[in-house]
Amino acid sequence: MSPDAQGRPRIVLGVCGGIAAYKACELLRRFAESGASVRVVPTASALKFVGAPTWAALSGNPVATDVFHDVHEVPHVRIGQEADLVVVVPATADLLARAVAGRADDLLTATLLTARCPVLFAPAMHTEMWEHPATQDNVAILRRRGGIVIDPASGRLTGVDSGPGRLPEPAEIAELARLLLSRADALPRDLVGARVLISGGGTREPLDPVRFLGNRSSGRQAWALAAVAAARGATVNLVAANVDLPVPAGVRVERAATAQGMYDAVLVAAEDADVVVMAAAVADFRPREQSGHKIKKAGDQPAPVELEVTADILRELVARRRTGQVVVGFAAETGDAGGDVLSHARAKLARKGCNLLVVNAVGEGRAFEAPTNEVVILGADGSSTEVRQARKAAVAAAVWDAIATLRRSAAG
Ligand code: CTP
Repeated sequence: MSPDAQGRPRIVLGVCGGIAAYKACELLRRFAESGASVRVVPTASALKFVGAPTWAALSGNPVATDVFHDVHEVPHVRIGQEADLVVVVPATADLLARAVAGRADDLLTATLLTARCPVLFAPAMHTEMWEHPATQDNVAILRRRGGIVIDPASGRLTGVDSGPGRLPEPAEIAELARLLLSRADALPRDLVGARVLISGGGTREPLDPVRFLGNRSSGRQAWALAAVAAARGATVNLVAANVDLPVPAGVRVERAATAQGMYDAVLVAAEDADVVVMAAAVADFRPREQSGHKIKKAGDQPAPVELEVTADILRELVARRRTGQVVVGFAAETGDAGGDVLSHARAKLARKGCNLLVVNAVGEGRAFEAPTNEVVILGADGSSTEVRQARKAAVAAAVWDAIATLRRSAAG
């Protein structure tokens, strides 16, 4: 880190000429509020969307687009050299192409060449431009070089168009930037090129039109796993069951409400995943029949509900595991007369056959819906790593450390 004179981290916010440039104002405000010193470097065409006075006023710093501005300060070299993080929002197809080519024809591309800190690109463009092989190749090259290029979100684009190409929400980009900055010196880039699939949330098994069997999983741990994996360079797919949280920037989310829906979605998505993490709380039982109408009480008669066992997704993943694929399970355990949390967990790891099992001790208000978590990561090789009460992002980092270690030993 090379903080400014007041000890603030330095962020360079590169803005390109796309309609989403106005959303960069909101991101800039968030960066400034988080205590960062922000230097905005717009391209010339970005200024057609939002003018220099806006960037100068919001950042409190001078704004330049070309390398000949303030030459006595040599800003085209210094801005990049001194940055702790560079964020390009919206990254247009043209900017991605110029970054790949190593052009230095304006201040932003010159800054990209001189930066030695993490560089985060948040592309936004029309779906056709995003899907064009030229853009996809450019994205792959930037990722290979260590750049963090998040996938655009899907949804409404300019005019009547809709599809992949939307800029993710500024709050989510700010969160990813916070993760990158907080670990700027230590963030491993050990998941570059890895395709990871994470399930999260809790399934709901309908009983009748108004009731379901569910559980208290909020999806927060899976969200943290996804955000950390994206920050470490992975391409991340989430399959989410009933999660009401903003989508982490750059992460693709597919929704699956029930155990069967999750089974279908996960097993298809796992086919081309290098790592699968089953963090979802999947129902073990579901009503054998779903009533088409609300089930009425019949005096003191017992509830007319019969349950059947759902298919075990984790076991199926293990049965279909390809060479080199890593499969990780989660287990929420309480001790009982049959054994303590860890002995149940060891038995579960053996039963499920996954590579790692992340074990939560639950009950007494722990784990579910809480911002912190405390886990033990058990390995099929007999290893065991304790992660004491920590934010879910720190737990996620420990899980990815264990996965990265496994992948390294399998590779070499
Ligand atoms: N899991 C799954 N499919 C299911 C149930 C669970 O893939 N139908 C996964 C969970 O996502 C988790 C792991 O299996 O990663 C352990 O879940 P858990 O409910 O603790 O395991 P069970 O085998 O159901 O054991 P228990 O009898 O303790 O509930």
